[in-house]
Amino acid sequence: MKELDPNMGDRKNCGGSSPDDLVFFVNGKKVVEKNADPEMTLLTYLRRKLGLPGTKLGCAEGGCGACTVMLSKYEPEAQKLLHYAVNACLAPICSLHLVSVTTVEGIGSVARQLHPVQERIAKAHGSQCGFCTPGIVMSMYALLRNNPTPKMAEVEEAFQGNLCRCTGYRPILEAYKTFTVEGGCCGGKGRENGCCMTNGKVEEEADADSAPRLFNPADFAPLDPTQEVIFPPELTSLSKNQKTCLLHFRSDRAAWLQPANLDEFLNLKWKHPDARVVVGNTEVGIEVKFKNMLYPVILAPAFIPELHRVTHTQDGIVFGAACTLTQVGEVLKEAAESLPSYMTQVFVAVLEQLRWFAGQQIRNVAAIGGNIMTASPISDLNPVFMAASCKLTLMDKDSTRVVQMDDAFFVGYRRTMLRPQEILLSIEIPYSRKQQFVSAFKQSPRREDDISIVTAAMSVTFTPGTCVVEDLRLSYGGMAPTTVLAKNTANKLLGRCWGENLLEEACSSLVEELTLEPSVPGGMVKYRQTLTLSLFYKFYLRVLQELGGQGLNVEEVRSDFQSATEIYHQEEPSSVQIYQEVPQAQHADDVVGRPMMHLSALKQATGEAVYCDDIPLFENEVYLALITSSKPHARILSIDSSVAESSPGFICCVFAGDIPGSNTTGIGHDETVLADRQVTCVGHIIGAVVADTQLHAQRAAKAIRIQYEELQPIITIQEAIAAKSFYQPIRTLKKGDLEAGFKQADHILEGEMHIGGQEHFYLETNVTVAVPRGEDHEMELFVSTQAPSETQSLVAMALGIPANRLVVRVKRMGGGFGGKESRTTLLSTVVSVAAHKLGRPVRCMLDRDEDMLITGGRHPFYAKYKVGFLNSGKVVALDVSYYSNAGNSRDLSLSVMERALFHMENSYGIPNVYGRGFLCRTNLPSNTAFRGFGGPQGMMFAENWITDVAQSLGRPADEVRRINLYQQGELTPYNQVLEQYTLDLCWDECLSRSQYQQRRSAVELYNRQNRWTKRGLAIVPTKFGISFTALFLNQAGALVHIYKDGSVLVTHGGTEMGQGLHTKMVQVASRVLGIASSKIHISETSTQTVPNTSPTAASASSDLNGAAVKNACQLLIERLEPYKSKNPKGLWEDWVTAAYFDRVNLSANGFYKTPDLGYNFETNTGRVFNYFSYGVACSEVEVDCLTGAHKNLSTTIVMDVGVSLNPAIDIGQVEGAFMQGVGLFTLEELHYSPEGVLLSRGPGSYKIPAFGDIPRKLTVSLLRDGAHDKAIFASKAVGEPPLFLASSVFFAIKDAICAARAESGITGPFRLDSPASVERIRNACNDRFTKLCHAADPGTFRPWSVQV
Ligand SMILES: Cc1cc2nc3c(=O)[nH]c(=O)nc-3n(C[C@H](O)[C@H](O)[C@H](O)COP(=O)(O)OP(=O)(O)OC[C@H]3O[C@@H](n4cnc5c(N)ncnc54)[C@H](O)[C@@H]3O)c2cc1C
Ligand code: FES
Ligand code: FES
Repeated sequence: MKELDPNMGDRKNCGGSSPDDLVFFVNGKKVVEKNADPEMTLLTYLRRKLGLPGTKLGCAEGGCGACTVMLSKYEPEAQKLLHYAVNACLAPICSLHLVSVTTVEGIGSVARQLHPVQERIAKAHGSQCGFCTPGIVMSMYALLRNNPTPKMAEVEEAFQGNLCRCTGYRPILEAYKTFTVEGGCCGGKGRENGCCMTNGKVEEEADADSAPRLFNPADFAPLDPTQEVIFPPELTSLSKNQKTCLLHFRSDRAAWLQPANLDEFLNLKWKHPDARVVVGNTEVGIEVKFKNMLYPVILAPAFIPELHRVTHTQDGIVFGAACTLTQVGEVLKEAAESLPSYMTQVFVAVLEQLRWFAGQQIRNVAAIGGNIMTASPISDLNPVFMAASCKLTLMDKDSTRVVQMDDAFFVGYRRTMLRPQEILLSIEIPYSRKQQFVSAFKQSPRREDDISIVTAAMSVTFTPGTCVVEDLRLSYGGMAPTTVLAKNTANKLLGRCWGENLLEEACSSLVEELTLEPSVPGGMVKYRQTLTLSLFYKFYLRVLQELGGQGLNVEEVRSDFQSATEIYHQEEPSSVQIYQEVPQAQHADDVVGRPMMHLSALKQATGEAVYCDDIPLFENEVYLALITSSKPHARILSIDSSVAESSPGFICCVFAGDIPGSNTTGIGHDETVLADRQVTCVGHIIGAVVADTQLHAQRAAKAIRIQYEELQPIITIQEAIAAKSFYQPIRTLKKGDLEAGFKQADHILEGEMHIGGQEHFYLETNVTVAVPRGEDHEMELFVSTQAPSETQSLVAMALGIPANRLVVRVKRMGGGFGGKESRTTLLSTVVSVAAHKLGRPVRCMLDRDEDMLITGGRHPFYAKYKVGFLNSGKVVALDVSYYSNAGNSRDLSLSVMERALFHMENSYGIPNVYGRGFLCRTNLPSNTAFRGFGGPQGMMFAENWITDVAQSLGRPADEVRRINLYQQGELTPYNQVLEQYTLDLCWDECLSRSQYQQRRSAVELYNRQNRWTKRGLAIVPTKFGISFTALFLNQAGALVHIYKDGSVLVTHGGTEMGQGLHTKMVQVASRVLGIASSKIHISETSTQTVPNTSPTAASASSDLNGAAVKNACQLLIERLEPYKSKNPKGLWEDWVTAAYFDRVNLSANGFYKTPDLGYNFETNTGRVFNYFSYGVACSEVEVDCLTGAHKNLSTTIVMDVGVSLNPAIDIGQVEGAFMQGVGLFTLEELHYSPEGVLLSRGPGSYKIPAFGDIPRKLTVSLLRDGAHDKAIFASKAVGEPPLFLASSVFFAIKDAICAARAESGITGPFRLDSPASVERIRNACNDRFTKLCHAADPGTFRPWSVQV
């Protein structure tokens, strides 16, 4: 680090030449930090230094909201308090001087008192795994601190920066609707039909009003804003009496200087031209964390009034460069509401961009100047500022200059014309003039909190009284290394009349002017080019409409074109949940069938629930960071750890030679714990570095240098097919006579489709803490895993010790979804080896980018099919070949493929079928289990060919589906009889609840009336087989202890990952033992209580563990029976005491194995599944054909979960799985480079569904009276089956695209790969604009990303 001048500037810092004390408050307590490290974030400080683990780490990049806290500060100038939510993962602690921090622990606790925000999310079932919950609670809390009665739209806005992977969002919104003006509870008296909280009653839902509710708002404590934690009075006086002097904090690597005034700031920048100015740190923080940038001097202008000032001038509004985006939005909104609209066109355009700019936590700290100065080519604001010719004031110590923001301002990728000594002082956003029209557009993969693909702003000024263009500025982001002005096009159009000829010329000119290289970063070349035209077209129509409105003689905007001009708006979400209440005679203590709250929900909402990384540090504990391969396929020539070894905090490296046992690992025993000589994917774990802290370990790991000899990799399925790179065996499943089937068919159709993979994106990444116990190689492992026993086995193998020396403990996971079924051992084995080597506790929690890189996800699938069908639509023959991208090891790929084959006909009875499954061996990280486990992929192709059949026959798809739907008693391709069949009931109920036929007519009418937006509708069934397909896994154990006081401790083999398994198990035990659930506790899952457990997977955990718990409880009840008979009026505690004194064993071990299973692929005989879960969904969407964006208008789901054990949990599973499916089929795209490098490694580039993506109307009905006798208390598995129902959204989109294509005269089947991304949708909506843009021929260039 450069030696700093002790005086730093012209003035002395507050503490002389030594660093200042950083003073801030956390939950009302004063913190004085004498050694504030400029590189430390608030999140690390809270979790590690203050021991406040309630605030979670989900991504470290501001993209998930798990780390949300509220900051409050006193503004001496305005004499007011400011409360705002921020991402603690991006907030440097040095930015917190004289700030009050409120974390989830600070607002309430289970022991003390719950805050209503905590209570309501828990009781309304809005917390499943709970890892997102503290962040969501704090976003809501901050909103209510500013506005105790918000509107629903404001609640949705407050959550733009929060993600949840479990709940599907509906219950969270519903919980918090109770705070809003629209939804505040009336206590059951407010409306005609009872309580207003029967949310979103739809008229057509005849029985919805009488449906029981999942929670009762009348139970909620009221919100009393007067009871909120007060702002620390000492902080008010400290803020008022703040000394005006330079603040200075420093570590051995960096200095943070906070000048007291503008002069000082300019002087410092003069002295340290390389210093980084930091305001919100939302850009710099990312650079430091993910791009390894080191900024030795940081200048923070937090106290400089000129940079925070807002001034209204004659020409517009001047914003100091450090004004936050929230502040800018508020000022512009007020101006837009109070000034004549002709003056505020630019303001409105900025507001439109701000609406979709990040989430509130980011907007609350990110500065307008930070956005400009980052100079990102996809900045959302810069195009508007350029189109509006905003003026920027630049300053250095000696001079001030005012420049116009045009294409001279950005001089290259992320570079501006500013000299190193200069700073940006302010920006003036001008008033618009009469005859000027301005619009701004942003197109991103997801609407909320996403980075643009293309962003644009356009401004046109007409000669007064005419439609002749006098001035035109077209500004685009995402089309070059900087934001650009399409000057040639604009010049060509000057003096031209706004009309069709101008449009045509604009389009042909834009295509020439805004070109992209075929291999441009970000890819999507054709789509991005098309967007430049489509967005201009939208602008063209809007202006045409305005000019027409002014009575000018311009072409009229056709009524069916109007919807293309509309600004995006969403309806308020509404929902209905329908389930069957328990019989009235059911005993009050018997909680089976009741919507009991998740047992950890309250603790999750207060931050008291302990996740693996929340376990306090052990004495002597050290941290581990992984060393991974940067090559997809290579020989390791050498590893140089010398630099790492001399880095601060370094303790040791761990490589293959350190493994005391076997380096062979993995489900298929075909992997290495640590790569030895060869790597087979980018992200392959080669070794690890152990150091005193996480930061030191990570820095040292990055300093390891590895030399490789590269070998030819295979990355994609197509490459694997060409190279015949397959794992064996190639599975086949055959029934009937295929040849005869095709002969019988009136038509034969062939097709193909690719389904992309999916990242699990559990909010809690992989984590292991390994604690050696010092004797006999004993070790205790705390792991976030779905498979404790598998972890135990593989760690024992690696350490070369018997399994009985290891205890694997799992309290809870912050989500799993299959991602923690087998791949967690990648980390836990390495951490254990390190702990074994050092004899010290070792911890590692993967960063989000590492987790995404290393641990694999859902298998991408490609299928080719040939289908024979009759004129009636009845399918008589199916020949299908599946190819999955298995990656660099077998892992669970064969079982995943088998499940795909077992679901290849989805719900349709096809007499002649032949399916083959190829596992492509590639150089990608091994893909693995993911909710649905190949089933969704298998069924997706089925729904695709059935849609093709309907389209080729010109018949409604729902009719063709119905004709082919199975009947009771039919045989599946694997010869299993369909008994206790309820799919037809689900289908009929879904048709009627969704009012399918009326909707269909309405959609058709809408599509006739709208050219550029189209609606689509689809109804899709699912049939999901329940059981592990590997026979031996269909077993479970339980251990139930009754203590002398009558309390009961249940342990079983399943793990809790948010799905509510422990809650359901307590319900089961409560029924069998006949006691209140409050007497029963489940503490954790551990290998020392129940051994040899199957992973918590395959949706079967309630069935298997429930039966084992039931078995154990029955044994205990039998043992207690004599004491009950002797004392029938006695209490439970009396019988327990009596039995104890009579020396009765009050501990019982329960066991269960699913009967009658056992399938043989060779003979196609034996039962595969215990039973099937059925469901049907109907979805309606609206597609913007010009941009490819879509809205999920409505979804109706009917799901057969048998007799629900817990309707609140089951509906939560249905909705959560559905939304994960919505992500899979419409949104989530993993981008890999042709060399197999994963490019999308965090929430910034990988988009899971957000709050705004839920269907605006969502009805979930659990099928009533589902007769069934195969699982515990007639319930059915629910974890995975509903996921596939999200394909109804995909096929509704496809339906809408059909309508769009029909406008261009194109009919018949077409290929639409999954996910139906904005790019794919837009490109499929073939029209005059897509035809102008051409993609380069594949093979003629190196693409940015490839379809794997
Ligand atoms: C989760 C997330 C979502 C985001 N979403 C969006 C989005 O939707 N649209 C979008 O456009 N951007 C987005 N961004 C990018 C970023 O938030 C913005 O660019 C933001 O405005 C940066 O402001 P800041 O104050 O945080 O900048 P900082 O990180 O503090 O600084 C950014 C850069 O600006 C320089 N700088 C700041 N002020 C001055 C000044 N007065 N003079 C000279 N240089 C200065 C800094 O030195 C630094 O180089 C997102 C970022 C994150 C993390
Ligand atoms: S951890 Fe901070 S936003 Fe994800
Ligand atoms: S409950 Fe939201 S991520 Fe699990």
